[in-house]
Amino acid sequence: MNPQESTRPPRRVLVTGGAGFIGSHTSVLLLEAGYDVLILDNLSNSTVEVVAAIERVAGRRPDFVCGDVRDGALLARLFARSAIAAVFHFAGLKSVAESLAAPLDYYANNVGGTIVLCREMAEASLHTLVFSSSATVYSASHAPPLSESSPLDPAQPYGRSKLMIETLLGDLAATDPRWAIASLRYFNPAGAHETGALGERPKGIPNNLMPYLCQVACGERPELIVHGNDYPTPDGTGIRDYIHVMDLAQGHLAALDYLETHPGFIAINLGTGRGYSVLDLVEAFERVIGRTLPRRIGPRRPGDIAASWAAVDRARELLGWQSERGLEAICRDAWRWTCTGCPPRS
Ligand code: NAD
Ligand code: WQD
Repeated sequence: MNPQESTRPPRRVLVTGGAGFIGSHTSVLLLEAGYDVLILDNLSNSTVEVVAAIERVAGRRPDFVCGDVRDGALLARLFARSAIAAVFHFAGLKSVAESLAAPLDYYANNVGGTIVLCREMAEASLHTLVFSSSATVYSASHAPPLSESSPLDPAQPYGRSKLMIETLLGDLAATDPRWAIASLRYFNPAGAHETGALGERPKGIPNNLMPYLCQVACGERPELIVHGNDYPTPDGTGIRDYIHVMDLAQGHLAALDYLETHPGFIAINLGTGRGYSVLDLVEAFERVIGRTLPRRIGPRRPGDIAASWAAVDRARELLGWQSERGLEAICRDAWRWTCTGCPPRS
């Protein structure tokens, strides 16, 4: 064996929730960057076909284990089987509405899963973690741009589960200087892989604007309902920071590089720093598909805020990362995925 190889740190990473929307796109980039990828996913919100799609796109196969991140014995076996350099922790439940109806599921899966994962990581002397947090941790009453030091006050159990996890990760990092943890606060991930082979596949009626628009465009839903046009924004509709999922994925690789030389805990926004209204997004989408879509104005959606976008200075300064793709690429790639790649849910 080449002696340099034996001393080289392992380049194998665990991606929990790697069959999901953001985890699958990140897995592609990790494989393309030369990492060996082990995906652990219980397929509660994804399918095993995604693993084959990752392999087709990246040209390399990720290892895949169907299992739950709350299964400590399974994690212990996986960590014992092969040296892992870092963990990307995407696995979790993500519906705000569902979290209001079933808060215990959200705390058990999101918070409970992270506790089990961190315990087993520590047991295996593995201390590098990139966690999927969310802009929902911020207080709804604070005006954008939201920086990492903006007030935190999530309005629902989903966001509170993310904030609890951030708190426990910060506490953990304070106990042992070997921990290096980045909590990435995503704004509004959207779009798909540019090949059209990977994308977002929500269960049931989509909550999020972009998958809903795609379903209206392909005739699965009769019209888009714009949730309110009486917000204090230029066109009256809600403003969000839509970030292309491949830019987001790239941010994860940048975070891993950063953690190699920066132990401790840090929260970092991943957004574009620009907000677009619902109508901006709809019109960009209509330009991409070359036709207008049926839409009507409905009432405000309970719990929605008028405007949210990220301050992105920290990501730029610490990670050397910023988003590259704009609204048009988000719409084009989401539409390509809808037309070519997205298999119907059974
Ligand atoms: P997703 O549902 O597509 O992916 C999550 C994956 O985790 C799914 O494949 C699911 O089967 C798996 N999973 C869930 N619980 C598990 C468990 N206990 N053990 C193993 N696997 C489990 O969601 P996504 O959009 O890719 O989001 C990934 C992460 O990013 C989540 O933690 C989510 O809360 C966070 N996030 C998402 C958004 C967004 O808008 N998509 C925004 C902010 C934060
Ligand atoms: C965007 C805008 C809606 C659908 C949610 C979660 C958040 C994060 C991302 C996980 C808003 C409007 C939407 C529709 C509409 N996920 N809209 N008609 O609410 O910013 O964030 O997803 O962390 O936690 O809360 O995103 O895509 O649902 O809505 O008019 O049919 O589109 O009112 O202004 P949101 P969204």
